[in-house]
Amino acid sequence: MSPKIDLLDSLSEIEQSALIGISRAVNPEELEALRISLLGRKEGKLSRILKGIASVESSERKLIGAEANRIKKVLTETLEIAQANFEANDKDNSKFLDVTLPGKKQWKGSEHPINCVIDEIWQIFRSMGFTRVRGPEIDSEWYNFEALNTPLDHPAADEQDTLYLKESGLLRSHTSPVQIRTLENHSPPIRVLAPGMVYRRDTYDATHTPAFHQIEGLVVDEGITFIDFKATLAEFSKRFWGAGTKVRFRPSFFPFTEPSAEVDVKRIVIRDGQEVETDWIEVMGAGMVDPNVLENVGYDPERYTGFAFGMGPGRMALLKYGISDLRMFSQNDVRFLSQLSDGPIR
Ligand code: PHE
Repeated sequence: MSPKIDLLDSLSEIEQSALIGISRAVNPEELEALRISLLGRKEGKLSRILKGIASVESSERKLIGAEANRIKKVLTETLEIAQANFEANDKDNSKFLDVTLPGKKQWKGSEHPINCVIDEIWQIFRSMGFTRVRGPEIDSEWYNFEALNTPLDHPAADEQDTLYLKESGLLRSHTSPVQIRTLENHSPPIRVLAPGMVYRRDTYDATHTPAFHQIEGLVVDEGITFIDFKATLAEFSKRFWGAGTKVRFRPSFFPFTEPSAEVDVKRIVIRDGQEVETDWIEVMGAGMVDPNVLENVGYDPERYTGFAFGMGPGRMALLKYGISDLRMFSQNDVRFLSQLSDGPIR
């Protein structure tokens, strides 16, 4: 092979691989390293060929010299353009906007499923004349237990369940302390709903979390009876869980209500195209306000009576929407959360 063909071949190889190298460089430093390896005075591949040109036969020198100089010019210019691109990119990305890329979708937020359930519950009670109140998440033993007729040695006040703070106070273990604060700050007729977070020393698994939502309800006035209690909660249950829902009041115990009940519902759901009744499921703790609670906040229990109830919107969302794991609510997986972006799932 003649030296001419040899040299022309390697020149073309240098050019090709240099152009590829430049197009792939990801930063100005890489470009500079390429420039030195190609055009550097001492070691640059192209410079070396140009230096050695004197030894080439004069008949071929002209052609090879012209080709080497052409490549040098091309590479110098390409390097300059690439360098300028990096600089411009630093300042103004829009210059390199690729209009062929698909447009970015506008991020659309959506309501958290638990908030949807809270809202749904709230709308029902609002239509029955309730107002919304709230209380602090850090509270005292008085509000969380004692005022609610729960002595500190009662199992409900057990340290195992309640998260106490280092200095003083505790994280409320239920929303019932809002009953006390409401009785202190408002006068009858009282009809309030109090949604909020509560905390317990609990495991974190499919059916438990150490922080969860509760909704408290309280009605206190002259002449409130067990009939008001049952009728209000039955009406709510039917509206929330759907027409045809059966409601059952099962005797239970809470220190701050007497008598106390657990409210169970039996729903009608569609399974395989058929209407079927579910088992009884417990959805609420409730009862008539214990006279001791009223006395604790200076109300005359001979004159005032009332009822209270508490429910867990997280659990209700699980049941209503057929979600199998409570942890879904706190993991913030947008695929899960965005399902409600066009209103609640129905
Ligand atoms: N506070 C109770 C609980 O967390 C629920 C409840 C509220 C019961 C109001 C009766 C009345 O379990």
